[in-house]
Amino acid sequence: MEFVHRPVLVEETLALLGPRKDGELMADGTIGEGGHSEAFLRCFPELRIVGIDADRTILETAKKRLAEFGSRIEFHADWAQDFLVETPNTFDTILIDSGISMFHYTKSGRGFSFSKNEPLDMRLDAGRGKSAGDLVEELSEKDFADLLFNNAEERYSRRIAHAVVEARKREKIARTGALADIVDRAVPPVYRRSRLHPATKTFQALRMAVNGELIRLPTLLKNAMNALKIRGRLGFISFESLTDRTVKLFFRERHLEGKGALLTKRAVCASVEEVRQNPPSRSARLRVIEKTGEGEKTI
Ligand SMILES: C[S@@+](CC[C@H](N)C(=O)[O-])C[C@H]1O[C@@H](n2cnc3c(N)ncnc32)[C@H](O)[C@@H]1O
Repeated sequence: MEFVHRPVLVEETLALLGPRKDGELMADGTIGEGGHSEAFLRCFPELRIVGIDADRTILETAKKRLAEFGSRIEFHADWAQDFLVETPNTFDTILIDSGISMFHYTKSGRGFSFSKNEPLDMRLDAGRGKSAGDLVEELSEKDFADLLFNNAEERYSRRIAHAVVEARKREKIARTGALADIVDRAVPPVYRRSRLHPATKTFQALRMAVNGELIRLPTLLKNAMNALKIRGRLGFISFESLTDRTVKLFFRERHLEGKGALLTKRAVCASVEEVRQNPPSRSARLRVIEKTGEGEKTI
């Protein structure tokens, strides 16, 4: 089978979340194409996994990839925060590899990337809620600027928001190519010469808003802690600084309250060799906490 996503920090995740005893149950809350799950199932023959993903299309790929493991793995199309709220004290380990998969950029056709000219959709659970196109069409200039700043710390948020609002008066902005061009023309020339495409943060911010990534993050973290057994471990991989900061503060709070032990004193990053082989791993940050006390209020 052809997989487009290369899982990050696999060795590190296996080392920090590998089972301590036979018969452990793990939740892979963002199973994607199943790269991490496959590594865990191969490495630990007694382990069972519950695989969850908000995106039904990618879940089908994981099902095919992991079919050989039979009843050691089951699959659920759901948001991890919604699934885990229903399963208190159930899992020995939970892995959340947040954000989106390379599949979404290269194969989904849903407009996650400015390097392809596709409809502006960006919904993981295809068809439910507002699309990126809806937000571009409907938000006020101020709300659009806030979205860019709050989700991606875009320093030219106001200029971009102004350009988008002016452009949509002339014509509907329906595709990624049109949006990327508007952003490109709105930012100062110096921004265009930087390493990142000027539209990188705009696209990231829209994707995060469409899928409620930052808004739902505290719920996801709380519900995941609640779904762990005592002495269970939660591993969280972030790719954006705002997500990692929220995870870091949440873990630190639990530690100070006596509800968690930090198994990673600082975030674990990809080795030089991994970054060479898989450049997107450059921004990955893994943090792991062990649950030592009850009392999580779920949402
Ligand atoms: C970085 S990819 C995971 C890659 C996976 N670990 C692998 O090895 O193939 C993130 C996946 O999580 C899904 N996703 C993101 N946020 C989610 C959430 N809150 N609940 C469930 N799935 C989510 C996305 O649809 C995507 O497939």
